[in-house]
Amino acid sequence: MQRVIRIAIGCQLRVIEMHATTGERTVNGFLRGLPDLMARSHSIAVIGGDGIGPEVTRAALRVLDASERRFGFSTSREEYKWSSASYVEFGQRVTAADIDGLRKHEAILFGAIGDPRAPRGVVERDVILGLRRTLDLFVNLRPIVAYDDRLVPLKAKTAKDVDMIVVRENTEDVYTQTGAITGTGRDQVAEVPMRFTRPGIERVVRYAFELARSRPRRKLTLVDKANAITVQQLWRDIFDEIGADFPDVERDAMYVDATTMWMVQKPEQFDTIVTTNLFGDIITDLGAALVGGLGIAASGNIHPGAVSMFEPIHGSAPKYAGQGVASPLGSIGALAMLLRHIGEREAGDAIENAIRDGLRSGRIKGVEAGAQKTSDVADVVAHALD
Ligand code: IPM
Ligand code: MG
Repeated sequence: MQRVIRIAIGCQLRVIEMHATTGERTVNGFLRGLPDLMARSHSIAVIGGDGIGPEVTRAALRVLDASERRFGFSTSREEYKWSSASYVEFGQRVTAADIDGLRKHEAILFGAIGDPRAPRGVVERDVILGLRRTLDLFVNLRPIVAYDDRLVPLKAKTAKDVDMIVVRENTEDVYTQTGAITGTGRDQVAEVPMRFTRPGIERVVRYAFELARSRPRRKLTLVDKANAITVQQLWRDIFDEIGADFPDVERDAMYVDATTMWMVQKPEQFDTIVTTNLFGDIITDLGAALVGGLGIAASGNIHPGAVSMFEPIHGSAPKYAGQGVASPLGSIGALAMLLRHIGEREAGDAIENAIRDGLRSGRIKGVEAGAQKTSDVADVVAHALD
């Protein structure tokens, strides 16, 4: 039997659950010792990675320092030096056992992986896909929010027209296995299974319905390709089944090719989108382009109530590495999502407001590389929190 206590500490709602027999305590879903209940301290893993990853992550951590001062919590941060560079230099691979070691944290702030000297995709699969798979981070949450009119590249559309959130399934699809290229010459065949399981679809679709219900428009669009890839009919079936539990959420279903067209022509029709791993990957890059570019897009790789990973959508951008010119807004946005995940909702919202105000006022000059120094953007956001 669980006893649930809801208390507010420093304006934060904390849901504390105590197991009646074992005395085990969780706070907002996380297992906690007694001293933590009052002190609000959080354990975070930091993986800067490659290229611009470490510098944008450092910028986000400055914003985290400011949030802690303002909202009265603390974090202990453990750095993990996982990168393609350490693979190239020392042959070091990241294993599932290494990733398992991250379960002691509440969340992971992640930078980027990718080094032109490393073989394509090897370390990305080990680390990014490894984290998603090993920690079963089945939701990839990708908000597509235009913070200012000048960031919207579409003619005759303004910031109010682009405000959607994509729930990308994050553990199945063509991403689960590496597949194989077999045969030689003209007999070569490249093959990889596109695999979906009922529980895998159900849990992400249910998450998306809950999310859609919590947003003002209460609309959920399923994106698939069930006309050509007929096995995706299973997504449609489950979408309708689970949708029956959410009569207050408006339902729409759309093929992915049409979705790319409508995202450009009529983005205002989208609110919450749920989709497969591969299609989610593709449409969220388009989504990032609708709100200013990859420099601003943030994402959360989430398992509700368990350690989850937050990252900018952009990659390591080696050509800008070490110059201090990359925009840290994707990483700072990821930090805002991380804070909400660990129960510091107020801090997360304040960071997002600071990004929006900074862009609208012009104190943040842009989101493309070189618009402003990385550390200056961090300062603008951090000062807004003071
Ligand atoms: C993303 C990336 C990754 C993906 C790559 C780096 C493996 O594009 O997070 O969107 O395909 O998921
Ligand atoms: Mg991608």
